[in-house]
Amino acid sequence: EKGTYSHFMLKEIDEQPFVMRKIIHEYQTENNELKLDANVRQAMKVCDRIYIIAAGTSYHAGLVGKEFIEKLAHIPVEVHIASEFSYNMPLLSEKPLFIFISQSGETADSRAVLVKIKELGHPALTITNVPGSTLSREADYTLNLYAGPEIAVASTKAYTAQLAVLAILAVDTAKAKGLDLDFDPLQELAIVANAMEVLTDQKEAIEDLVREYLGTTRNAFFIGRSTDYHVCMEGALKLKEISYIQAEGFAGGELKHGTIALIEEGTPVIALASQDNVNYSIRGNVQEVVARGANALVISMKGLEQDTDAFVIPHVHELLTPLVSVVPLQLLAYYAALHRDCDVDKPRNLAKSVTVE
Ligand code: F6R
Repeated sequence: EKGTYSHFMLKEIDEQPFVMRKIIHEYQTENNELKLDANVRQAMKVCDRIYIIAAGTSYHAGLVGKEFIEKLAHIPVEVHIASEFSYNMPLLSEKPLFIFISQSGETADSRAVLVKIKELGHPALTITNVPGSTLSREADYTLNLYAGPEIAVASTKAYTAQLAVLAILAVDTAKAKGLDLDFDPLQELAIVANAMEVLTDQKEAIEDLVREYLGTTRNAFFIGRSTDYHVCMEGALKLKEISYIQAEGFAGGELKHGTIALIEEGTPVIALASQDNVNYSIRGNVQEVVARGANALVISMKGLEQDTDAFVIPHVHELLTPLVSVVPLQLLAYYAALHRDCDVDKPRNLAKSVTVE
C-alpha cells in the first residue's frame, strides 16, 4: 500500500533508514555479534575467489560489494553482468564461490548462470529480497535483504539493503578468517540509517536542484572516481530509466579520453565527492567540465565539501558512503521524472522482474 505517498518509489526511498535498522536487527545476536548462517560463513572461508553475478542495479551493488569483500575479507572478487557471463566465461579458480545478487530472485539472466555453474558443481549463495524465489531455492545458501516488498520498477531500498548485507558478509568473513578489523558494520550502519533520514528530509532542496540542473535537459553526466564512480553508474541508471533523460556514469579520469567531447554549454554534470583519496582529482574533473560550459552539481560529503557544492551529505564511514550518496541521486531521478510527467513507478518498456533472457 502506498499510504499517503503518491508513488511507491518515494515511499521506498523513505523506507531505507528503517530497512537499515531491520537488517541490523536481523543480523545481530543478543551479544551484539554478527548473526550469519554457519554454512555461509564456511563457504566464504574456504573459497579462493568470488564471482558475483547480477543485472542492472544489483550489478551496481555487486561492484561496491567487491570493494567490501576485497578490502575487509581479502578475497579476490570478480563482478559479472549475468547476461554476459556465458559468452566469455572467465577461467575459474580452484575453489570458486558464486554470489547471485537479485532483488526479485527471478532474473532469468542470473538464473541461466546459476544453472550452468551448478552443472559444473560449484557452490552458490543468493542474496535476495525474496527468500522463496527461484534463485534462492536453487542456490546452496541464501541471505535475505529484509527490505520488504519493492513495488516500484526502479530499485532503491533493495540496492542499499544489498550493500548493507554485503558489508556484513564481508566483515563476518574477515572475522571468521581471524583478520583484525576496527570496523563494526552494525554500528556504522546505524549511523548510515540516521544519515539517510537527514537526506530523505531534504526533498525540497533536491527538487530545487532538479529545477535548476535537470529542468529541460535531454542528457546528463554523472562523474566520480573509485566507489563514487560505481554509485554514479547507479545514479545514471535511475535517472534514465524513470525520467528518460539520457544519462551516463563515468569515471572522472576517463572524461579526457573521449566523453568530454560531449560537454556543451549548459550540459548537466553531477559529480560525487564522498571519498577523501579522490576528492582532489574529482575536483579537477569538475573544473575541466565547467571550463567547457557544463552546469556542474557537486554532491560532497561533510568534511570534504567546498563552498560551491550544491549538496552535502552527512559524514559516514568511508566504506559505506554509497549507501548514503545514492539517496540524493534516487531523489534527483524521482523529481526529474515527476517534473516530466513520467509514470514514475511503471516506466515504459520495463518490468519489475525480468524473467526472459
Ligand atoms: C533498476 C532495476 C533493474 C534490476 C535488474 C535486476 O532500477 O530495478 O536494473 O536491478 O533487472 O533485477 P533483480 O535484482 O531482481 O535480479
